[in-house]
Amino acid sequence: MKRTTSSKEIVLGVTGSIAAYKACEIASRLVESGYAVTPALTASAQELVGSATFEALTGRRVITGMFDPLASPDIEHIAVAQRAALFLIAPATANIIAKAARGIADDWLSTTLLATRAPILFAPAMNTNMYNHPATQENIEILKSRGCAFVGPGSGRLACGTVGLGRMVHVPRILEAVEIALHETKDLAGLFVVLTAGGTREPIDPVRFIANRSSGKMGRALAMEALKRGARVAIIAGHMDVPPPEGAEVIVAETAKDMAEVALSLAQDADVFVGAAAVGDFRVQNPSSDKHKRSEKGLEINLIENPDVISQVGALRRDGQIVVGFAAETADLIKNAKTKIKQKQLDLIVANQVGVEDSGFGTETLRACFIDSKGTVEELDLSTKEEVATLLFDRVSDLLD
Ligand SMILES: Cc1cc2nc3c(=O)[nH]c(=O)nc-3n(C[C@H](O)[C@H](O)[C@H](O)COP(=O)(O)O)c2cc1C
Repeated sequence: MKRTTSSKEIVLGVTGSIAAYKACEIASRLVESGYAVTPALTASAQELVGSATFEALTGRRVITGMFDPLASPDIEHIAVAQRAALFLIAPATANIIAKAARGIADDWLSTTLLATRAPILFAPAMNTNMYNHPATQENIEILKSRGCAFVGPGSGRLACGTVGLGRMVHVPRILEAVEIALHETKDLAGLFVVLTAGGTREPIDPVRFIANRSSGKMGRALAMEALKRGARVAIIAGHMDVPPPEGAEVIVAETAKDMAEVALSLAQDADVFVGAAAVGDFRVQNPSSDKHKRSEKGLEINLIENPDVISQVGALRRDGQIVVGFAAETADLIKNAKTKIKQKQLDLIVANQVGVEDSGFGTETLRACFIDSKGTVEELDLSTKEEVATLLFDRVSDLLD
């Protein structure tokens, strides 16, 4: 996370789950990112973790109760409720979720959650049965319907020894959800953004495939940017080296044919479609159902052309729908991209240089330019994939106006 948030205050509500120890790392990472963090521990949380750690990590007095003699002279829960940019409840017990849903105000945190108009983000942590209980599920639905955000829970081994849903998600996921919740521009709110990401894999036999070097980092950055701007996001994912961001729907499509099928189906409802995946141009005509053996003494593979996913989406586009493509080129970047934008009927194409050290598959940065349907070329400085994603959705937002 970048240090761009200088003085925004986050109230970190820590409740009585064994995962409370992980809140120390959350506090530390938020402070490192430039946020002012006010920790508030419920009575149960104080049984599990100590205030002194949070005090040292955040440099702030930890709020532990409603009638704390050290509290500031103004009515603290109202003052904090008004100035906070976000309430992050991590871990969130079944109890705090229930109290927030029903408006119960019997301690500092639950009272302040009623008093605030800031966004609230819950990271639930509890035993699987507690999480699946209809009461908890109903409470979560109530809170979601009021605009509260949830990150997780995930699945795995729980402190109680069972394996299942209920683990608090990993800290990086929570930090990502904080970024999404705090992003000020929500210009894609109410819109559905579909994007392809990663690289396709075309089977040769059950154990081998033809792939490419795409890491999925660009697709991930695009998904994250669209989520931050308030869109509902679906990622049609080929092979990705990086995890998709929390909050995106993910549909795995390994081959170009699978990707085309899912893309054409989802594109019908999409307001914006971005084809960032590296889709293999060719596939093996007759993949073997048995593993090829060395004893075959040589192997000839016949390749046939794959569907061009973004062209098919471009050809079926609806009025008002925005379709964006990526063109990875090793030479004649702009000339080739200008041909592609016409052929594929796109609104915008991101032409990017591949095969150089600082730009292309797997790199953190990109040498790219945007070309619109009128042929206007905008060359970008060497940019991170996150910066390209921001600029791209700025252009998309202009096109949607
Ligand atoms: C060791 C221990 C671990 C607990 N872990 C959880 C948990 O992960 N999730 C949960 O909802 N409750 C858990 N509980 C129960 C809560 O602490 C209990 O419901 C408490 O009333 C929650 O209060 P709070 O929401 O005000 O913090 C745990 C209790 C103990 C003793």
